[in-house]
Amino acid sequence: MPEHGGNLNDAVARFGRARGDWVDVSTGINPAHYPVPPLPDNVWHRLPEVSKELEQAAAAYYGFPACVAVAGTQAAIQALPRLRVRCRVCVCGPSYAEHAWQWQQAGHEVIRARYAELEQHLPQVDVMVVVNPNNPTGETIAPTTLLAWREQLASRGGWLIVDEAFGDTVPELSIAKHSDLPGLWVLRSVGKFFGLAGLRLGFVGASANLLAQLSAWLGPWAVSGPAQIIARQALSDRAWQQHNRQFLQQQGQRLRNLLTANGWQSQGTELFQWCSHVQLQHQTEALWEHFAQHGIWVRYFDHSAWSAHGLRFGLPATEADWQRLEQACQRWKRRETT
Ligand SMILES: Cc1ncc(COP(=O)(O)O)c(C=O)c1O
Repeated sequence: MPEHGGNLNDAVARFGRARGDWVDVSTGINPAHYPVPPLPDNVWHRLPEVSKELEQAAAAYYGFPACVAVAGTQAAIQALPRLRVRCRVCVCGPSYAEHAWQWQQAGHEVIRARYAELEQHLPQVDVMVVVNPNNPTGETIAPTTLLAWREQLASRGGWLIVDEAFGDTVPELSIAKHSDLPGLWVLRSVGKFFGLAGLRLGFVGASANLLAQLSAWLGPWAVSGPAQIIARQALSDRAWQQHNRQFLQQQGQRLRNLLTANGWQSQGTELFQWCSHVQLQHQTEALWEHFAQHGIWVRYFDHSAWSAHGLRFGLPATEADWQRLEQACQRWKRRETT
C-alpha cells in the first residue's frame, strides 16, 4: 500500500520522540490553515445534503462549469477506476502514489510513465492520469497540451484525469474551466492551499454525464455538514485567499533559499520542495535519518517503480519550527566539514 506524509505515528514508533516534539514537514499542506468559523448547533444533527451554495462557491473559486463535492480528492481517486470496465491506464510519475495503486486495485492495466514520456503512450491507452503541478517533483504540463490529449482520448471514449490538488497557487495552469468537455475529469483539494486536510473535502469537475456517474457511485451524504459550512466560507473568502497566496510565495521562497544555502537544488510548488537523490549528493537516506534524529519529519521517497529517490520538504508551521529546521541543516553541514 502507498505510504503517505503526515504519518507521525510512524515517526514516534521508529524514533521514540514524543508526538508533540516533532516538526512535521512531511506533507504539502499549508500550515497556516483557514480559520474555522463557529458552527451552528444543528449541523451536527442534520443529514448533510450537499448545498447548492457550496457547489456554486466551489465553481466560482475553481472556475468549474459544474462540480461535485467529494470527501477529499482521495474519494474521487478511489471511485474513478471503479466507473470503467477493465482498460489500459497511463499514470504519470513519480507522483501521488494512490492514482496508480487504485487503478491497479480495480483490476486495470497500469503503465507508469515519466512526464516526458506521457505523450508517447497516449495512442495506446484509454485513460491518462496527470498530476499538475506534480507532487513531489513540481513538474507541470501546459493546459494546451492537456486539452489536445483530452481530445484524442475522448475521440475513442477515453478519459483524461487531471489532479490539480496543488493548483491554487498557479491558476494559469488549471483546466478546470474546460472540465465540462467530454472525457475530462479535474480534481481539486481543499486540503492543501486552505490547509484543511482534516476536513476531507475536494471537488470534481466533469461533464454532466460523468458527474452523475460519480455521484451515483459515492451515494448520499458523501461529505459532512461541518465540512460543507467551513468550505463555503473558505472558498468565498477572497481576502484570505489573496493574502495567503502572497504568504505562501514568501514561505516557498524561504524554503527554497534554505535548501540552496545548504547546496541542495530543489523544485516544487509554494507548498513543498523536492530534492532528488542526485541533488542531495546521493545522501538521501543519511540526511533523512539526520533530520529524524533532530525531530524533523521529512518525507522520504523511494519510488522504485519510477526509480525516484529523494526528499520532499513541506513548510514549517512556526518561526520556532523554521529555526529547528535551519539548525538541523547547519548541524548536517558541520558534520560534513569535520
Ligand atoms: C496530488 C495529490 N492528489 C490528491 C491528494 C489527496 O488529497 P485530499 O486530501 O484532497 O484527499 C494528495 C494528498 O497528498 C495529493 O498529493
